Amino acid sequence: MLRALLATCRPGFEKECAAELSERATQLGLTGYPQTKPESGFCVFHFNESVSENGFEKFQWSALIFARSVFFLPAGVMQVPETDRVSPILEHIKSWPKSLKPNFMLVESSDGESGRELSAFCKSFSKPLRSALSKSQIPVELWEDSQAVEPQARCLHVFFVDYAQVYVGVSLRRYNSPWPRGIARLRFPSDAPSRSTLKLEEAFLSFLSEDERASALAPSRRAVDLGACPGGWTYQFVRRGIRTSAVDNGSMDERLMDSGLVEHLRVDGFKFAPQRPVDWMVCDMVEQPKRIAELALRWWQSQSARRMIFNLKLPMKKRWAEVQEIRLVMEEELKKMGRPHRLVMKHLYHDREEVTVYLGPHS
Ligand SMILES: C[S@@+](CC[C@H](N)C(=O)[O-])C[C@H]1O[C@@H](n2cnc3c(N)ncnc32)[C@H](O)[C@@H]1O
Repeated sequence: MLRALLATCRPGFEKECAAELSERATQLGLTGYPQTKPESGFCVFHFNESVSENGFEKFQWSALIFARSVFFLPAGVMQVPETDRVSPILEHIKSWPKSLKPNFMLVESSDGESGRELSAFCKSFSKPLRSALSKSQIPVELWEDSQAVEPQARCLHVFFVDYAQVYVGVSLRRYNSPWPRGIARLRFPSDAPSRSTLKLEEAFLSFLSEDERASALAPSRRAVDLGACPGGWTYQFVRRGIRTSAVDNGSMDERLMDSGLVEHLRVDGFKFAPQRPVDWMVCDMVEQPKRIAELALRWWQSQSARRMIFNLKLPMKKRWAEVQEIRLVMEEELKKMGRPHRLVMKHLYHDREEVTVYLGPHS
């Protein structure tokens, strides 16, 4: 029933996204092939044989590293005439089984250069399409930023490649990014010392449920920030009232130090060990990704931190191979250590040449 899936990604990461989708399909015993173009900001994975709706879960957003958002396509790309784009799209959706009928809608394009040029058009196209759907007894709400959508909701994705070609697909809210197009539009706090503060905020929102955030980020918690200067990540803890040890030889933002919640330690982040176990270890040191992964494993083994978030910088050409190898090694080592864990890697919207990793207890 579902013939392909479309994953969006950061422009420039199409190869990684395609390799990951191919690997996931192979793991699931599915065959198919990826189709993508450099800098397009998306990849379509075609299945040789249609998959059923359990594909939503199998290719869920949280299990994919490089996909910003993911939705499924009952058919390939559609050609739509300039004179009437609505009718063919509407007829197509009307032919879908009841189980795919959407309650939300997003008209979108990629984050690549050609996709960005279509964003105003996509916005204006939502109105006539929504009204045509409503007249056909398929009422949909627009999926907009900051809107809470129930986990069982289905979202219609109308994804324009250009003015004449469109992919029409569907996602299940529970298994897709919490943000439309996978783009976390977070407000930069004017008193934060660096823009990278948004990376940690996005990581908290991506990796922890609302309940987990309420508990794991309560003011009584303790954190260690390795490679903390000037303090963008430390800021995320301080704003929540969490005492933080900031480990770095550089200079910390003065306002953060004035909070009285930060202890600045000018020592090597690879040698530092907390006197007592802490709730969080976060690490944004620019270092070889394998060294950072080993460091995290040591902290996990010694139970020095209950949860960790760290970045793996990927300046190398073979980014997918590097990430894949590190994930495999980490999973093997964690298994040997025996404590139930959750390891998640994600190329966040605010990440550039890096991925963000969460390691914490199994929830
Ligand atoms: C990308 S910056 C961190 C930015 C910070 N997360 C923020 O939001 O402001 C990397 C930092 O890691 C620090 N660093 C690199 N190697 C380190 C080491 N071995 N020990 C401690 N800090 C280190 C650098 O001094 C630098 O300040």
